[in-house]
Amino acid sequence: MIKNQTMDQRFSLRGKAAVVVGGAGYLCSALSRAMLESEMKVAILDVVKEPPADLSGEVFFLQCDAAQKEALLKGREAVLQKFGRVDVLLNGATCNAPTPFLEISEPEIDRILRANVYATLYGCQVFGEAMVKQRKGSIINFASASSTTPLSRAFVYSAAKAGVLNLTKNLAREWAPYQVRVNALQPGFFPTEWSRKHFIDEERQAKILGHTPMRRFGKPEELTGAVLWLASEAASFVTGSVVTIDGGFTAMTI
Ligand SMILES: NC(=O)c1ccc[n+]([C@@H]2O[C@H](COP(=O)([O-])OP(=O)(O)OC[C@H]3O[C@@H](n4cnc5c(N)ncnc54)[C@H](O)[C@@H]3O)[C@@H](O)[C@H]2O)c1
Repeated sequence: MIKNQTMDQRFSLRGKAAVVVGGAGYLCSALSRAMLESEMKVAILDVVKEPPADLSGEVFFLQCDAAQKEALLKGREAVLQKFGRVDVLLNGATCNAPTPFLEISEPEIDRILRANVYATLYGCQVFGEAMVKQRKGSIINFASASSTTPLSRAFVYSAAKAGVLNLTKNLAREWAPYQVRVNALQPGFFPTEWSRKHFIDEERQAKILGHTPMRRFGKPEELTGAVLWLASEAASFVTGSVVTIDGGFTAMTI
């Protein structure tokens, strides 16, 4: 027990306000749902027009290009007006492309860096500023198995995710004095409709699963525990950490 709090109280998320950038996507829509089930208030910011289906609870959707700081500043205004504060930021905007390295064009580099690096960095700047003022907050970024080791056919994405990992640790150091914690998830393979079409053919699937001790892909719900934990007071001494959820993929050698 810490400061007379029970474990239930330390894990409680009731009433906390979260911003989920990229919240209409495959993983972050499931994570938004889990936050709502935990009685959190959730603001979903995404570049797409429609919010994810079947969300219930205290939730609102804002169409927003998070790679543009001005758009995020408007988003922050709306969130603060509605919720009065922001306790948790989940930074899940992304895009990728399987282009061979020598063929990658400048527009493609821009597109991937904007969705992965700019959106994450601006998200931290804009919502992190509010958290620093509050002297409290939890930011959860998305690293990747390719943040530290090469993953074929994802060159710009991997460089972007290395940047996200570095930014996470840097901000953890910077904002620890203000009780703003900054951590990253490192998911393994959770195939989306896009990745099944463009990235994971049969041969690649066999290679991935052959390198995954659990011999299967992950399901979005399998990220929930880590996110809810990092969002809660139960993780009050956790900052600058990378939580790996990959069925053993990155622990595997031969
Ligand atoms: N799915 C996986 O296997 C996997 C593995 C490792 C890491 N990740 C990371 O998890 C996070 C979520 O990925 P996902 O698989 O759910 O992808 P996804 O493509 O389903 O979702 C990404 C969302 O980001 C939104 N987005 C893109 N650019 C944006 C912008 N500029 N502003 C606002 N929203 C924007 C998209 O519209 C989409 O809804 C990403 O950071 C991704 O890199 C995923």
